Amino acid sequence: MRNQIVFYLNGKRHNVAGEQAGMMLADYLRYDQALTGTKVVCAEGDCGACSVLRYFPHVSGTDADNYIAINSCITPVATLDASSLLTVESLKDGDRLHEAQRSMVDSHGSQCGFCTPGFVMALTGLVEEKLSKKQKNISDKEAKNCLTGNLCRCTGYQAIIDAATKVDLKIEKTLKDRYYDKEQENALKEAYAKSVLVETPKFSFFAPKTMAEAVAYLDKNPDTRIIASSTDLGVVHNKRKIHLTKLLSLHLVDELYQISSTDKVRLGARVTMTEFRHFIKDKVPDIANYLDIFASPQIKNIATIVGNIANASPIGDTPPIFLALGANVLLHGKNGKRSLPMSEFFLDYRKTARASDEIITGLEFDLPGKNSSFKAFKNSNRKDLDISAMNMVIQVDWQDDQKEVVKEIRIAAGGIAATPLRLKKTEDTLRGQKIDQKLFEKICHDVHQEFTPLSDLRASSAYRRVLVENYLMRFFKQEVLA
Ligand SMILES: Cc1cc2nc3c(=O)[nH]c(=O)nc-3n(C[C@H](O)[C@H](O)[C@H](O)COP(=O)(O)OP(=O)(O)OC[C@H]3O[C@@H](n4cnc5c(N)ncnc54)[C@H](O)[C@@H]3O)c2cc1C
Ligand code: FES
Ligand code: FES
Repeated sequence: MRNQIVFYLNGKRHNVAGEQAGMMLADYLRYDQALTGTKVVCAEGDCGACSVLRYFPHVSGTDADNYIAINSCITPVATLDASSLLTVESLKDGDRLHEAQRSMVDSHGSQCGFCTPGFVMALTGLVEEKLSKKQKNISDKEAKNCLTGNLCRCTGYQAIIDAATKVDLKIEKTLKDRYYDKEQENALKEAYAKSVLVETPKFSFFAPKTMAEAVAYLDKNPDTRIIASSTDLGVVHNKRKIHLTKLLSLHLVDELYQISSTDKVRLGARVTMTEFRHFIKDKVPDIANYLDIFASPQIKNIATIVGNIANASPIGDTPPIFLALGANVLLHGKNGKRSLPMSEFFLDYRKTARASDEIITGLEFDLPGKNSSFKAFKNSNRKDLDISAMNMVIQVDWQDDQKEVVKEIRIAAGGIAATPLRLKKTEDTLRGQKIDQKLFEKICHDVHQEFTPLSDLRASSAYRRVLVENYLMRFFKQEVLA
């Protein structure tokens, strides 16, 4: 058992114990290490000024087998245990600027400069990915997508996007080649192999190697909070609504990183949005497209799917996906393991059926079959980096020989009730029926009896009702009524 958090920062080993382990990484960098290139503006994951690069070498075979950009303002140091981290100070190689820096200078991508290190680090994350795939150019679309999580108040974005597309990938070396050496690899492997417990009167953090240890710890310490990547928890901590003082992290439990798809798909609790997108993009492209407008690359690179489900927000984007897929939530507690249909998981506003001694180990679901249609819709005030006003996901399995006859249907929506919701009455009306204009008009009328949406900052109740009809209309018109 270790009693120190171990990570590498700009190529140097850091062992962190005590309350320092509970600091947000941005504060640790700025106030403890005097690495003030990393800036803090919003402290809630929205502006990207605090972007740094993280490599977690224990998960391979995905887009994330690289240094990738994350936000340091909402990430406690302890959760970055067994990682390799790079800040903007690491980019310059002797007197030579990194291409992301050189291109920002030459394209006049900076004015006051406060946002610039964050943009440069987000762009460097993309450069790392491109170099690892041996790709030669950055397109306008890739540049915009990569910089979705960064805000600039003075320059205007065109100069920054130009800088991104003008990075000369042919002359840049990967940071992995420059920083990730054998010594670091061995040290991080050794750290990853051992549980870690940091305990002080004001802060405790336990990260076990096995689920059995995790469950036993939670049973003995019921006031402990399970933390994944803290993209929800870090925000509420920074707003001082909760304090992250007693934490259980599953980042050393190997099995939780797996996505397997032999019979059913099993997705472990540590799988991130980026990794899931990588897995699903050819299998269900609509899910990948929907995830493209989830948060920012910095958030998706670290946020877990299970964190999004456990958070139980009525406007969370992934609950409707898994409700529509008919997923089960896998739970492990002191009385053993159980598998619960997700439709029984969300009980009330942010209240779930997870018992206090239980940990979610993952999700299990079938992919849509050959005779299925699957569509995901999201409405938000801004297209990028905004949570939903409403979302809806529909899966229909059609009768084998007749596409317009519904064999099975699941319609799930967020933003219309206190929990993510299955529209079960509408599903019952449609199951076994042939979709025609008359039936379609009936369900558009009847569907409103199933929910009572709120009016809030994001949308009025009336607007949400219109959206529900519009999504149903888009789905059925595209699939059968066109
Ligand atoms: C800038 C920004 C943009 C965002 N955009 C979106 C968006 O577009 N759509 C959207 O839906 N969300 C969005 N989010 C919310 C957030 O990113 C997601 O909810 C994320 O998936 C949470 O995952 P995490 O790993 O960070 O969880 P954490 O923050 O670590 O935990 C979230 C909750 O899950 C619990 N938990 C985590 N793992 C387990 C487990 N194994 N068992 C039991 N409980 C567990 C924690 O105790 C906590 O209550 C955004 C957040 C930010 C900061
Ligand atoms: S300071 Fe804005 S995302 Fe971290
Ligand atoms: S250059 Fe001033 S905020 Fe971007």
